[in-house]
Amino acid sequence: MPDSKRVALICSDLDGTLLGEPDSSSDFRRRWDSLRDDRPVLVYSTGRLVEDARRVVREGGLPEPDYYIGGVGTMIHDPEKNALLDEYAAVLSQDWDRDRVAGVVRSFPETEEQPPEQQHEWKSSWFWNDADDEDLDRLRQALREAGVAAQVIYSSARDLDVLPQAANKGNALRWLCERLDVPLDRVVVAGDSGNDSSMFLVSGVRGIMPGNAGPELRKAARDTDAYAARGSCAAGVIEGLVHYGVFAETDALSEGTQA
Ligand code: GLC
Ligand code: MG
Repeated sequence: MPDSKRVALICSDLDGTLLGEPDSSSDFRRRWDSLRDDRPVLVYSTGRLVEDARRVVREGGLPEPDYYIGGVGTMIHDPEKNALLDEYAAVLSQDWDRDRVAGVVRSFPETEEQPPEQQHEWKSSWFWNDADDEDLDRLRQALREAGVAAQVIYSSARDLDVLPQAANKGNALRWLCERLDVPLDRVVVAGDSGNDSSMFLVSGVRGIMPGNAGPELRKAARDTDAYAARGSCAAGVIEGLVHYGVFAETDALSEGTQA
């Protein structure tokens, strides 16, 4: 049974997953805090850059994680040391040419560059409304023809990220687990959109899709055993963590708060 191994690490997306419904985000926090010493490692993996992610975690009242994976798997940050893991950046630099990537994407008139605060050395991000698979294939082909090694990730029928081949949320998670010596069959991932797909496809991990998960993620994860929750955002994550035995089925904390 895939569900029986004790969970050692949880890697969750933020927007539309642990964030999006303030009451269930608070419920997640209460349940997380009640785990005390026996907690899995907690990792947040988001399309936001790390500083921005830390801000929304603070504002959303979520627990501080052990690690942040920011910029769609292009930065890994240790909040305790307040530092990025440099060794990871070295992996991403190989064969990456950000200016050439931007030149190719700009030649597609449907694209518009995201604001500067969403960009960094290993993440070139754009808006492209309602691009379909064919559009994305045309872009991949143009990048190939320009001799640029890059991967194209599309989320929420709007957000286009072009990243080094070695990046993405799944590769960053794999890299971190290797460094922490956490076997992948002890990992649970949660996410709701296209940029989360690569996490669900890491072999051995168990997935949670909240009820609001988008079609691009459902399609990518269709051959996995991911748990499809009924509840949306953090309520769905909680449901999944009960399913995988991290949280208890009944939670006196969420019932007895008026006493
Ligand atoms: C977040 C980032 C954005 C990215 C999107 C999808 O919204 O801010 O830059 O394109 O996630 O990965
Ligand atoms: Mg999301």
